[in-house]
Amino acid sequence: MASEADLRARLQRAGQQHLLRFCAELAPEPRAELLHCQRAAAACARPPGPPPDLAARLQPLPPERVGSASEGDPQTRRLWEEEGLHQIALNKVAVLLLAGGQGTRLGVTYPKGMYQVGLPSQKTLYQLQAERIRRVEQLASERHGTRCTVPWYIMTSEFTLGPTAKFFKEHDFFHLDPNNVIMFEQRMLPAVTFDGRAILERKDKVAMAPDGNGGLYSALEDHQILEDMERRGVEFVHVYCVDNILVRLADPVFIGFCVLRGADCGAKVVEKAYPEEPVGVVCQVDGVPQVVEYSEISREVAQLRAPGGGLLYNAGNICSHFFTRDFLRMVARELEHLLQPHVAVKKVPYVDEHGNPVKPLQPNGIKMEKFVFDVLPFAKNFVAFQVLREEEFSPLKNADSADRDSPSTSRRALLAQHCRWALRAGARFLDVHGARLPEQPSLPGSAEPPAICEISPLVSYAGEGLEEYLRGREFRPPLILDEATARELQP
Ligand code: UD1
Repeated sequence: MASEADLRARLQRAGQQHLLRFCAELAPEPRAELLHCQRAAAACARPPGPPPDLAARLQPLPPERVGSASEGDPQTRRLWEEEGLHQIALNKVAVLLLAGGQGTRLGVTYPKGMYQVGLPSQKTLYQLQAERIRRVEQLASERHGTRCTVPWYIMTSEFTLGPTAKFFKEHDFFHLDPNNVIMFEQRMLPAVTFDGRAILERKDKVAMAPDGNGGLYSALEDHQILEDMERRGVEFVHVYCVDNILVRLADPVFIGFCVLRGADCGAKVVEKAYPEEPVGVVCQVDGVPQVVEYSEISREVAQLRAPGGGLLYNAGNICSHFFTRDFLRMVARELEHLLQPHVAVKKVPYVDEHGNPVKPLQPNGIKMEKFVFDVLPFAKNFVAFQVLREEEFSPLKNADSADRDSPSTSRRALLAQHCRWALRAGARFLDVHGARLPEQPSLPGSAEPPAICEISPLVSYAGEGLEEYLRGREFRPPLILDEATARELQP
């Protein structure tokens, strides 16, 4: 380990000597911690600028790289689904949740997965996800007459590990086997000023932030996660972000599509809703598949139109990725160091030269983050898979004061979906006077559903299997179809 003098010299060389300003005042313990953080700060490279001439280098993805869950013939879709369920039944599929983010936009102090958007069942995002895992395991087991497991890897950060682990314990791992829920922590990076100097958040602490969801690849190595996957026989990994209430974990259709196409890397996309929508765009840069993040695409490019009138860059990334374990191993072992950090401008609390804490009103610093999708260019066979927004994408990003991507829009999207499923399965809803409510099976995701209906993921994963409980029956809303109600309704 480097001595203090050595560290001082290194910080000096890196232009970070200001970090030692309050060092002499500190007790030994915070002093040691600060010196530890300073090592990271000293190693912190000057942030790169935005990618040069991006607009001229972009192209939409060629159609042969894009599959679709909704277009095309139902038989092919069934084939993909069969293949996915088969791989799940063979214990070859795992899910990996990216849950190290701080949820700043939502404005809660706890991990986003613990948030509940106000469903009748009051389920949190974590609970919905756990129940979808249980259901997809059950579907694959029933189809193939064997018991199977979809392990759940959860990447957390210094901010989210403690509360997430506690929450899972308190909720008895939502009836999953704790041995199959594997939490691991990503690394942190120092926040820096615009001229690259690390920021002191307190006298004894450098401001640090998680190293972005692309920190996944070094975290996989740090915690021997790929070895754990190998021991379990996992070959295919569905990586997803925490805040999409409609996320289909280990979606057999997506897994099957990717496997049958021989893909090493895949991404689900939806049609962008409007040019400025804060979603990355899946496209090609210099002929190579890539995601260009919404923070790095210009307004002009985002607004470009295709000859048919739709957006030219229309493939919105929903942060739902497929990777083979071999691909992850190659990235984690050999290519991770090639991933360039991206820059996010932020308000970073700091201490002034007298040691007084300051909460800046204007952005004063930058955080550097790697992105999970920055590995796409390394793929030998990348595929995109287009899905319907109202079935698969409603992210929770903002507080309810915003009119998009909020708790209310997420709740409505889920309830509208469940109402559509129930109507499609033959349920009819009555109002308080006993009159039938109108049926609108093509109800869009954002609208208020005609009747409140919530279906437990333990009863149905994607709308399947509901006829036996609902066909020809009339219900006064709210209809909460959980396992107990389903048993009562069984013919
Ligand atoms: C992300 C995608 C964006 C996509 C959008 C869809 C990335 C880099 N961007 O954007 O292309 O269109 O979702 O909703 O993937 N996380 C970590 N560690 C971190 C930072 C984040 O695990 O250090 C996790 C978060 O907990 C979350 C996920 O990564 O689950 C996405 O992070 P978030 O910051 O919400 O991404 P967006 O900017 O919304």
